[in-house]
Amino acid sequence: MDLPQKIQQLKKEKKAIILAHNYQRPEVQNIADYVGDSIELSRKAMMEKDAEIIVFCAVDFMAESAAVLNPSKKVLLPSTGARCPMAQMLTVDEIKRAKKQYPNAPVVLYVNTLASCKAEADVCCTSANAVEVVQSLKADTVLFGPDMNLAEYVAEKTGKTIIPIPAHGFCPTHLLFQPEDVKVLKMEHPKAVVLVHPECTKEMRAVADFIGSTSKICKYVKESTAQEFIVGTEEGILHRLKKENPNKTFYLAYAGAICPNMKLTTLDRIYEALKEEKHVVTVPEAAAKKARASLERMFEVKS
Ligand code: 13P
Ligand code: SF4
Repeated sequence: MDLPQKIQQLKKEKKAIILAHNYQRPEVQNIADYVGDSIELSRKAMMEKDAEIIVFCAVDFMAESAAVLNPSKKVLLPSTGARCPMAQMLTVDEIKRAKKQYPNAPVVLYVNTLASCKAEADVCCTSANAVEVVQSLKADTVLFGPDMNLAEYVAEKTGKTIIPIPAHGFCPTHLLFQPEDVKVLKMEHPKAVVLVHPECTKEMRAVADFIGSTSKICKYVKESTAQEFIVGTEEGILHRLKKENPNKTFYLAYAGAICPNMKLTTLDRIYEALKEEKHVVTVPEAAAKKARASLERMFEVKS
């Protein structure tokens, strides 16, 4: 039996389900029960009824959200080192300081935050619904963290005053994309449509034909009549895009756009974690309760 077969067998024995983010390695996406973006994976984790174990192939904050939303299940993060550096850029103290400075501004936190921070938020958002979440609030001034690029994008779209917390939070992988690289690719492939994740800089967003979360990018490509696409997000998404659209062609806007944390999840680590039921993600109940409320408020917003 090869490793994917062994994982499938173990999964059945242990009544487990495997969820994988769009940035995971191709072989990990191939064995997953569901592949999606951060909001889709959170929803899946929340709705899951039958499984006893959720193996979450992604990074820390996504697995934490699954644990918070589904406290009766065992959530495993196959690689404990898989941490999102952007999520580490915001601390509880920083949020408390900002709240003191702007007592009337609601706190909207991107899901790319630790549960202890989500516990301090009024509502969470993902890149798929950030604009709608901020639009749904009565306030015209909003504290938003930790991604300054997403904050800026939301400000452009809503016309509201968005105060980023911290001032300069960012994703190191999406910062690698440069409009100059897109211009060169456009010269080689003039008909290619440019797709960009909102974690990219304003300069990158300015050269985009479409801006959206990873799953919105996948949906856009499926529905588009175009044949060629320049992709401005982490390279793992190309596997899903090629699988779902075998007759279309994709060019990564920057060949080195790899999230090393997402790539820490391997088949070996999934097998080991499932076999030994190790690397269980836990969130202290006091923080989990408040974080759950912030996530649930996000689900109430129509997007
Ligand atoms: P998505 O919600 O678009 O999948 O984004 C998650 C993420 O970490 C992007 O870097
Ligand atoms: Fe975090 Fe960026 Fe990796 Fe997404 S791509 S998990 S934001 S470091």
